[in-house]
Amino acid sequence: LECGSLSIIVLGASGDLAKKKTFPALFNLYRQGFLPPSEVHIFGYARSKMTDDDLKDRIRGYLVPSKNATPETSEDVSNFLHLIQYVSGSYDSEEGFQLLDKEISKYEYEQNRQEGISRRLFYLALPPSVYPSVCRMIKLHCMTKSGNVGWTRVVVEKPFGKDLESAEQLSSQIGELFDESQIYRIDHYLGKELVQNMLVMRFANRFFLPLWNRDNIDNVQIVFREDFGTEGRGGYFDQYGIIRDIIQNHLLQVLCLVAMEKPVSLTPEYIRDEKVKVLQAVNPIKDEEVVLGQYEGYRDDPTVPKTSNTPTFATVVLRIHNERWEGVPFILKAGKALNSRKAEIRVQFKDVPGDIFKCKKQGRNEFVMRLQPSESIYMKLTVKQPGLEMSTVQSELDLSYKQRYQEVVIPEAYERLILDTIRGDQQHFVRRDELKAAWEIFTPLLHRIDKGQLKSLPYKPGTRGPVEADALLEKAGYVQTHGY
Ligand code: BG6
Repeated sequence: LECGSLSIIVLGASGDLAKKKTFPALFNLYRQGFLPPSEVHIFGYARSKMTDDDLKDRIRGYLVPSKNATPETSEDVSNFLHLIQYVSGSYDSEEGFQLLDKEISKYEYEQNRQEGISRRLFYLALPPSVYPSVCRMIKLHCMTKSGNVGWTRVVVEKPFGKDLESAEQLSSQIGELFDESQIYRIDHYLGKELVQNMLVMRFANRFFLPLWNRDNIDNVQIVFREDFGTEGRGGYFDQYGIIRDIIQNHLLQVLCLVAMEKPVSLTPEYIRDEKVKVLQAVNPIKDEEVVLGQYEGYRDDPTVPKTSNTPTFATVVLRIHNERWEGVPFILKAGKALNSRKAEIRVQFKDVPGDIFKCKKQGRNEFVMRLQPSESIYMKLTVKQPGLEMSTVQSELDLSYKQRYQEVVIPEAYERLILDTIRGDQQHFVRRDELKAAWEIFTPLLHRIDKGQLKSLPYKPGTRGPVEADALLEKAGYVQTHGY
């Protein structure tokens, strides 16, 4: 920050997202010197009647350092907590937001004495049902008083609606109050280290330029697995399901980065223009290219209806109708309560023509980016089996982050994204037309599922999900390779 003040206002300060993600991310930014106490103040706002100390007690236990960072000291924690002030009020009350504005202005006055520039970052750690009223209140009562030199930004997070229509309605409501440049729609997958590496890998390496197309690539898989169920969130989850929770946002964002054309430059608008074009080129999804599943026991959650058909697992094949990707299936797969926790991008190449080594049965070349856990990038390829015989074996060129970057602190997605909002960089945020295009792809399918026209197949928790999904993968052309 140059001169002036930055107020970060966490709305929904007593909720789960704030406790588990927002405050810990702010804590880590603070530890790295990005939130200097001389210029930053944090306000928590929520309905609960609490004191500052009550809020601090709630979040203290969650303030842990990011991976590889030095352990926190109790001084770090107490200095950080010192920045926080709590204000209580409801999400639609004029008085609440007037009080909030008064407290922010008081801080700004002490800080700036009318000379510095005031910046206000509102982080909505709230359910979207209250976004419109909260945004209206911010607009009415809490905008920066520094005119054009200061700024007011609003950070929101999914679910942005339930389908195209509700998402567009939400976008219009917020869009009437704020300019697109003030709205930061978080998809936290865009803040992950390896997701951010995708464009670098693709566009900074000669290796990939000539290969990254339908002539060489057979199929692409983008996979998300979790080895736990919807514990404690069943009621929420049941209204959305795995497609809205993971695929339509996180995995589709990753698909954009895998499939988009090279942007003119790294200007956020150019990048997002290219992402929109890919989304617009996706064909309608066919029912025969979808497998849905629901793990056994999901409906035991008392907040889940006994007759629920909501998928906790889905495999969906998307087809991009353009020159680069015609005919290449993009298989998006996500599931809860599976046998492992993993997220990865797997690009499988076609067989080598004229296979003189007869190595086809060992598997194909693959380029894999494992997003988590244990970030790594590896290429599966065929090499000579060391020894006297001329035989071949599958092996890997492996860039494992744990080995290569032992000392490097890998920031949490939320840290990076919050820092971007402070810096005013929208590259890793979802633009309104991008969101619309994403909903256009999935809405017809989601409506068919909501009407019960597609059934979720049961699967046992701790397994790979319904076997039908493996059959779909095979049909799409994926060939299981050995090892890894
Ligand atoms: C959230 C989903 O967006 O992402 C959760 O709502 C899911 O259901 C989570 O568990 C996964 O995030 P990560 O970063 O742990 O892969």
